[in-house]
Amino acid sequence: MNNKVIDFKKSKEKLMNKKFPNVSTLVTEGRQAYYLESNKALDKFQSIFYDYQEYLLDKENKKEIKLEEVMFHFNIFFDAVYKDLTKFDDKRVSKFKEALDYAMLSSGKRMRPFLMLVTYNFCKGEDFLLLSPLMVAMELIHTFSLVHDDLPCMDNDELRRGKPTVWKKYGEDIAVLVGDALFMQASSVLMDIIFELMYTELGSYMVSSAVVLMRMAGLEGMISGQVFDVMNTGNTKLTLDDICYMYDKKTTALLVASMLIGANMAMMHGETLKYIEQIGLCLGEAYQIKDDLLEVESTTEKIGKSVDSDKNNNKVTYVEKVGIKESKERLEYLYSKSLSMIDKITSDKNKKESLVFKELVNYLMSREK
Ligand code: IPE
Ligand code: IPE
Ligand code: MG
Ligand code: MG
Repeated sequence: MNNKVIDFKKSKEKLMNKKFPNVSTLVTEGRQAYYLESNKALDKFQSIFYDYQEYLLDKENKKEIKLEEVMFHFNIFFDAVYKDLTKFDDKRVSKFKEALDYAMLSSGKRMRPFLMLVTYNFCKGEDFLLLSPLMVAMELIHTFSLVHDDLPCMDNDELRRGKPTVWKKYGEDIAVLVGDALFMQASSVLMDIIFELMYTELGSYMVSSAVVLMRMAGLEGMISGQVFDVMNTGNTKLTLDDICYMYDKKTTALLVASMLIGANMAMMHGETLKYIEQIGLCLGEAYQIKDDLLEVESTTEKIGKSVDSDKNNNKVTYVEKVGIKESKERLEYLYSKSLSMIDKITSDKNKKESLVFKELVNYLMSREK
């Protein structure tokens, strides 16, 4: 039996014994034990994250901190949480666990979990550890989609995040199973935390967040986008509308989900949530257009994946359809639309949090990989 199960029992017993349990104490106590590594990494990340916020507020008088530095420490924090939440120690399949970690602990940007956290922070959420199962589940699902996306039967790509793709390194059979396992791990990380929190108010926020994630990952989102993508490979009749539908599903869905989950976990309701969704729709479209642009304008070394993939696979992309110039104009439009929507939901109370959010939008639009 691993620590997690023991902890759950303890938490549940306590909950049963108290009519009105002190939720925050229980949750914190329950989590301390198995978030050992994460807690250490969290301290460092949190301190640079909050320093960064202060710096943005008073650039003249504060020492410069770059967003990349903050993201670097976020990645360390994220790795620790991933390791803590997905411990698995069966020697007979240790090679397989190595393949899972190969996929998860590579140099991905972790943009979805980071966006989740920045949105959570923007909505005044303060408990980054509480968000961590959702961040890990999100990245597990995203990584699963990439492992399968690279398979010979799909995009047939050999390079991802600057390394051989999972199928290239471990074989196609293992890569299919890695994708399956990543997805199942996402479900079980979510079920674990839901089980822990199920008698608490936070439990219902966790459940609704998990629902958003699963729907946006499945037929209502990413999977349908991927289906439409493979079914229309080489289809020169694809309209711009079709392409936007495809991007909306295969890429935007998970980015919007990340932001909605961040806002939901900070218990945000109403109008703000609608704005967050609209901002997510802009950022999602921009993210995929930028991905297409990088494939045309960058190099394999820089982006860590093939710059010939779309061409080799006869993919019809936004950039191919309207050209580089118009694609860049669209990016510019989506960028300023996002920023002005952030302004609409910013007040004195979340001014400094909005500055981080805006910096991230800026990064997403100008990223080089
Ligand atoms: C790649 O996603 C696939 C798209 C939806 C554009 P990312 O660009 O976020 O990939 P990683 O996770 O950083 O490798
Ligand atoms: C990948 O789309 C989107 C998903 C895996 C959901 P692409 O096939 O365009 O992305 P890259 O270029 O391989 O990262
Ligand atoms: Mg693809
Ligand atoms: Mg691909």
